[in-house]
Amino acid sequence: MKLAVPRETRPGERRAAIVPEVVPKLAGAGFEVWVEEGLGAQAGYPDGAYREAGAQVGGDVLAGADLVARVLPPTAAEVGKLPEGSVLVGFLAPGSDPGMVAALVERKVTSFAFELVPRISRAQSMDALSSQATVAGYRAALLAAVRLPKFFPMFMTAAGTVPPAKVLVMGAGVAGLQAIATARRLGAKVSAYDVRPAAADEVRSLGATFLELDLEAKQGAGGYAAEQGTDFLARQQELIGAHVASSDVVITTAAVPGRRAPVLIRRSMVEAMRPGSLIVDLAAPSGGNCEVTRLGEEVDHGGVLVLGPRDLAATMPTHASALYARNVVNLVQLLVRDGRLAPDFDDEVVAGACLTADGEVRHAPTREYLESRKG
Ligand SMILES: NC(=O)c1ccc[n+]([C@@H]2O[C@H](COP(=O)([O-])OP(=O)(O)OC[C@H]3O[C@@H](n4cnc5c(N)ncnc54)[C@H](O)[C@@H]3O)[C@@H](O)[C@H]2O)c1
Repeated sequence: MKLAVPRETRPGERRAAIVPEVVPKLAGAGFEVWVEEGLGAQAGYPDGAYREAGAQVGGDVLAGADLVARVLPPTAAEVGKLPEGSVLVGFLAPGSDPGMVAALVERKVTSFAFELVPRISRAQSMDALSSQATVAGYRAALLAAVRLPKFFPMFMTAAGTVPPAKVLVMGAGVAGLQAIATARRLGAKVSAYDVRPAAADEVRSLGATFLELDLEAKQGAGGYAAEQGTDFLARQQELIGAHVASSDVVITTAAVPGRRAPVLIRRSMVEAMRPGSLIVDLAAPSGGNCEVTRLGEEVDHGGVLVLGPRDLAATMPTHASALYARNVVNLVQLLVRDGRLAPDFDDEVVAGACLTADGEVRHAPTREYLESRKG
């Protein structure tokens, strides 16, 4: 079986779907690994390292491939270059590019999206959303520390005492908890809020304060948050306002799967912050948790800096790629039976992660969304 890994094409994307370390594991599962020249050049993995690990570098990588691994979704044009009937694994952002999904169906590509891997214990080793969110949360805290015109830790110097920076993290899931842990290591005074009550103990175990707001949140399924109503969000904004205003840094990570990110910080709340404060909005790609955020841009709003990074995991590509590659191997191993690529659709992880197969869209919400657009 041939496993092909093309270079990522989105500007600024520096990660690679496969790193040399996992090539022997893929060979052990029955794959000949072909990678495009320069695949890991921006992530610290030169072509020679892939060769040494046993991969074929360069040549017609996609020709005759049985399986293709990527980090980011292909464009519809890139799907056109996949061999008909091949298997594709990667982040596929179901619902955001209907033309790309239609192209997968047309080429009879069996595709598995990391966004759809069920959040169950058995699938944790394939949870690329978590591995990349870990990187993004860590980087968000570092970015804030570098851009804040203040110290994070408390300093007692001969010239006087400097108080620690006050960091507020909204959304204490995988990324939020990493942001909290990193900001704490740097010595900041950290508080956090999440709609899931289970997050409170996790926040406290990291040495941060959990903000108890007098609010009754709807609970979602599968450990995820539910989408809250407009009344809830208005009340949340009201209750959190004073905390936002007194923070030096606010890191927002709140998300509801398949929905636009909830707006937690209104423009007026940004205006109540001290000049020199800053917001890092990790939810920028799904619409932003802050009304002022602009995706991929830095906005100076009356002296408050609002950062809306597109994908912070791509800014730390060596470890982001290493973790992602292990997620890929674990998912791929699940798709192989008796030395053949033969996904078992009775397996809930395989069935859950599948976006397209046999010329149809298997993921019901994406299928319904595409049908509603046609109608
Ligand atoms: N395999 C597994 O069992 C597994 C793997 C990863 C994560 N999880 C769990 O899934 C949960 C969420 O993971 P995630 O980080 O990918 O979630 P996510 O990226 O979908 O959301 C980030 C956080 O935003 C929070 N949020 C949503 N709406 C909010 C609002 N209005 N105000 C404040 N916060 C809001 C969510 O509760 C979540 O904690 C966590 O409990 C995590 O431990 C389980």
